[in-house]
Amino acid sequence: MTKTILMALKGERQAVPPVWMMRQAGRYLPEYRATRAKAGDFLSLCYTPDLAAEVTLQPIRRYGFDAAILFADILLIAQALGADLWFETGEGPRLSMITSAADLARLKPVEAVHETLSPVYETVRILSEELPKETTLIGFAGAPWTVATYMIAGRGTPDQGPAHALKAADRATFAALIDRLTEATVEYLSAQVEAGAEVVKLFDSWAGSLKGADFTDFAVKPVQRIIAELKRRHPGLPIIAFPREAGEGYVGFARATGADCVALDNSVSADWAAEHVQVDGCVQGNLAPHHMVTGGAALVEETRRIVRAFAGGPHIFNLGHGITPDADPDSVQRMIDAVREG
Ligand code: CP3
Repeated sequence: MTKTILMALKGERQAVPPVWMMRQAGRYLPEYRATRAKAGDFLSLCYTPDLAAEVTLQPIRRYGFDAAILFADILLIAQALGADLWFETGEGPRLSMITSAADLARLKPVEAVHETLSPVYETVRILSEELPKETTLIGFAGAPWTVATYMIAGRGTPDQGPAHALKAADRATFAALIDRLTEATVEYLSAQVEAGAEVVKLFDSWAGSLKGADFTDFAVKPVQRIIAELKRRHPGLPIIAFPREAGEGYVGFARATGADCVALDNSVSADWAAEHVQVDGCVQGNLAPHHMVTGGAALVEETRRIVRAFAGGPHIFNLGHGITPDADPDSVQRMIDAVREG
């Protein structure tokens, strides 16, 4: 039996698209909140393989999604490279900042990342044993640009201003940070694949703030390099890329980077994306996450509309971004039923 997600990633159209959800292991689930409380804090949850595997499995048990995504965070690699990382409750991530060549020089070499990240590989090993045989295991990392925006600013920013400022003021340091992250990400994802990840996904949450040549240089090229090297090391490895809010940048993105699937945010219409992006292969997306909060008939209608819009080609049903903590767990079941039963 071939897994449905792997069939979609090979370019097969299916009568019923496979379905999973970004942030499917998260605070909207009471069982996640209980395990998170047991772990103490978010990073301890990420670095404790039994607990990270447990929260990864929770949405699979509850809903039977077609894929499980490893529970970790895109910022762990910054910590593995030597940055300080912590999460302020109710606010988000905080990191030591990279603003100069001297800061960059203090980072650890690429080969050092495995020391910090080995518990993540252990989580992947546990999951590849424990997941139901029909469920695909997805590993992931942040794309270099998005991880760099946090490493430069020391936190999340609405407009990625500090990263754009470093790019303008000291391009050599900025480009060297992108290169370091590109190489470290290859090592990190390669180790996840060796531990049992069947697909990997690159999250470029802030790709939309790169324009023109910057989009090519920092959203396309690093992702293309990572994909080429991963596919050289692991022939046939399926890869999903998520250049969030890329807009017109979605057109040709799969061809330019070698990605097998492009994940779409909900700012693009499904009809437009079917015509301009799905022509090149599999797409994933793109229900607006707010439907998981508001529910009702609109949730079901919008889910069906997206399934129909992408029915002509390979499609993995998903949200356009992560599910939010205020979502209703029953709405998730209604979405899955609408995908599978029409
Ligand atoms: O999708 C999944 O279920 C897999 C696990 C996963 C998490 N984060 C768990 C998490 C994945 C794939 C991510 C990716 C991630 N992390 C991204 C890219 C995707 C996106 O959302 O755009 C980014 C930008 C981050 C960085 C990050 N992690 C931020 C900004 C925050 C704080 C904001 C928030 O939602 O609280 C996190 C924390 C985080 N990562 C949580 C989870 C479940 C919430 C932490 C908690 O339990 O308190």
